[in-house]
Amino acid sequence: MANGQPAIQSLLTIDDVWEIYSRDIEEIESHIRRNLDSQAPCSNEIAAHILDGGGKRIRPLLVDLCARLTGYLPKEDLVLGSLIEFIHTATLLHDDVLDEAVLRRGQPTARHIWGNRASILVGDYLYSRAMQHIAAFENHDINATIATACRKMAEGEILQLCANRRPLMPESEYIRIVEYKTGALVAAACKVGGILGGTSPIQREELYQFGLSLGIAFQLADDHLDYTADNKTLGKTLGQDLMHGTVTLPLIHLLQRLTEKDRQRLIASIETEAVTEHDLLQITDHMHQHGSLHYTRDRSQEYIDAALLNLHSFDDSTAKRALTVVADYMVHRDQ
Ligand code: IPE
Ligand code: IPE
Ligand code: MG
Ligand code: MG
Repeated sequence: MANGQPAIQSLLTIDDVWEIYSRDIEEIESHIRRNLDSQAPCSNEIAAHILDGGGKRIRPLLVDLCARLTGYLPKEDLVLGSLIEFIHTATLLHDDVLDEAVLRRGQPTARHIWGNRASILVGDYLYSRAMQHIAAFENHDINATIATACRKMAEGEILQLCANRRPLMPESEYIRIVEYKTGALVAAACKVGGILGGTSPIQREELYQFGLSLGIAFQLADDHLDYTADNKTLGKTLGQDLMHGTVTLPLIHLLQRLTEKDRQRLIASIETEAVTEHDLLQITDHMHQHGSLHYTRDRSQEYIDAALLNLHSFDDSTAKRALTVVADYMVHRDQ
């Protein structure tokens, strides 16, 4: 019990949060569908394939909750949330091309069905459609925040591409990539929610930092899941990062723990694209033995703890409690 208030957030689950905000989510979904109005019908078909495939809608929920923190009643934040989901979807279409992924949200990727060219173009379309609608808000802060996030996401993916099959990356460099490719958009989602909610400039910055740490934690959890998840629940191919030469924290940690001989062997197989399914199982085993997966989960939790410190200046509210539940879910999710 804190300040004489019962610790209600510990009673809320993520399912309660989805339930409490189900009307907001429904409205976000209807904005998403309304914006699938390209003059090129095949673009709508491809976009609908990935958008209808599920997706947790975490980013629009964060926009909504951050707007609601100061008593704002949902309206424009739901539109903005749907546009941020468009941007997120565009990055997934592009990311699946880069990662040569065949499965996303439990179904074949757009690139697998329609090819890389279509996936890239529809991603571009979704980006530009979102930016066009965002410009109509005529809010400089919102425009600048989202434009910066888009730039950082692209830079993050470029940095990751340049680091492909270069397993000797320091942890700090890896965190910087994650900050850019994933943290930036989550941070922007939280900040623009705060802008619409009418928070002070200081609080907007706190929301940005909240989202940034949350986004890093989220990506670390994703990297952990890539080695540990249940295939069906995840809806993506397990072990994709290692097989594709994408260096993530569990691998960076493992390489620091192996004997010199094992280390050199693993580095050589990653550099020469010689990782087999059998290697993947063995490496995942080593990650368990050497605590690399625990370490990644712990680092993710540390970022969540750091994120929550940024909410101290906000009064207690259902939205604030929901944010703490969502933060916890971002580390402990199974998909
Ligand atoms: C996947 O994001 C890409 C990452 C940043 C790890 P999500 O895990 O939010 O994907 P969906 O939208 O729920 O499918
Ligand atoms: C991509 O990270 C993050 C984006 C910003 C798209 P990942 O490559 O790990 O995402 P998944 O695992 O394919 O969803
Ligand atoms: Mg990927
Ligand atoms: Mg991943």
